[in-house]
Amino acid sequence: PFEVELKKSGEVVTVPEDRSILEALRDAGFATSSSCESGTCGTCKTRLLSGEADHRDMVLMDEEKDDYVMICVSRAKSGRLVLDL
Ligand code: FES
Repeated sequence: PFEVELKKSGEVVTVPEDRSILEALRDAGFATSSSCESGTCGTCKTRLLSGEADHRDMVLMDEEKDDYVMICVSRAKSGRLVLDL
């Protein structure tokens, strides 16, 4: 598991191994936009403020990978991601 911090509310949500970031946020009561939920459409693109993402999508270009994360499929490489949500 790892944590995501939602910068705008200051909330921290734990993402279990068997849930996506998107699912974990929904479980915690946050409304999030998504469509394909398989890392191909781009709808769930979220600004990444800090932390190192384990990118598993097919959408982001290399130069975007420090600043954005697709939360339907991607995860964290280490402890915590801070998202602009
Ligand atoms: Fe389509 Fe995440 S919902 S890329």
